[in-house]
Amino acid sequence: MSQIYLDNAATSWPKPESVYCAVEQTMRQVGVSSGRAIYDAANTASKIVKDTRQSIAALINAPTAEQIAFTCSGTDALSTAILGILKPGDHAIATAVDHNSVLRPLLHLQQNGTIELTIVPCDDAGIVAPEAVAKAITNQTRLVAMPHAGNVTGAIQPIFAISAVCKKHGVPLLVDAAQTIGHLRIDVQQWECQMLAAPGHKGLMGPLGTGFLFVSTAIADDISPLRFGGTGSQNVDASQPLEIPQKFESGSLNVPAIAGLGAGVKFANSEVGEAMQEHTDDLTEELRDGLSNVKGIRIYGPTERSLRTSVTSISIEGLDSQTVAGILDVEFEIQIRSGFHCAPMLHQCLGTAEHGLVRFSPGPFNTSVDIEFAVNAVSEIAGSV
Ligand SMILES: Cc1ncc(COP(=O)(O)O)c(C=O)c1O
Repeated sequence: MSQIYLDNAATSWPKPESVYCAVEQTMRQVGVSSGRAIYDAANTASKIVKDTRQSIAALINAPTAEQIAFTCSGTDALSTAILGILKPGDHAIATAVDHNSVLRPLLHLQQNGTIELTIVPCDDAGIVAPEAVAKAITNQTRLVAMPHAGNVTGAIQPIFAISAVCKKHGVPLLVDAAQTIGHLRIDVQQWECQMLAAPGHKGLMGPLGTGFLFVSTAIADDISPLRFGGTGSQNVDASQPLEIPQKFESGSLNVPAIAGLGAGVKFANSEVGEAMQEHTDDLTEELRDGLSNVKGIRIYGPTERSLRTSVTSISIEGLDSQTVAGILDVEFEIQIRSGFHCAPMLHQCLGTAEHGLVRFSPGPFNTSVDIEFAVNAVSEIAGSV
């Protein structure tokens, strides 16, 4: 029996064959830094970076590719946005649905006295009300941060309505698209969000160690870089470049990983990729249907398919989530994520802060057989309590 991987909300695996090939080919046949030198291989490396940047810009309908800065992860992109835009005396708003990659930089700034912070609650399904965001806005509010969809209940947030609230009050909106990029359509121009952060290694199917930050030109000058150093551009000047994306991309870029990300974006955007996403959503329905017949189980998140992503979190009466994860791993070779999913405030809202939840997140390469096996495993565990 081989392992069944159902933790794609953490990182997608396996990757499409084209992603493995792009990483390996770039390492073996290109191998050099981008944006630094003028020899052939260096130009090829730069072209890889440029092409991936353009394909991400096209995917999210960014006006220009220069508005996409590569980062090492979703966390890195979120820290760049949050720590870069907030200044002493500002007020920021986040939500109970947010991941620690949003909450921790904000709490850091709050605890050292730089900003005031308001956390807006969510309902039982993990959805934030636009009215609650509107109510939290003050004259000092300089940022609203929220996920496009939560990573525990998979609830898709009312981004359009929240963006309208932000626009009305002239407050920049930062969207964390970690759980939706590559799954759902994202249009930064339609949303009118000023910043969007995302990992490259989840729905975009790229390697770990990739991510990006989109910034609108209206706000780019107001965001200070997180890191300073060599960018390959304007070498004659010792000052950090002011232009995007170089301003945010100090240090040699991970060209092989960016090549893999480019292949991942191509896959996610292809007919095959879209069909596989539909397949992932179908598997999620099979999982939820199967689990809903198991006694002693509670399933979290919106019941309606159109309101959630392919993440399903459950609790089993009388069992701690870590215990369930241990049994699934050791006795059934099923890999899932238990505990608090780096979303402590959501667990407080849901009343699951003591035992956590067991999260299943199928990916495009899972099958109905995997799902059936997982449902049977949960039934056995629940039945043995
Ligand atoms: C909602 C959400 N935001 C941010 C992140 C952080 O992304 P990364 O793991 O690439 O740092 C994650 C990762 O699990 C996530 O689920």
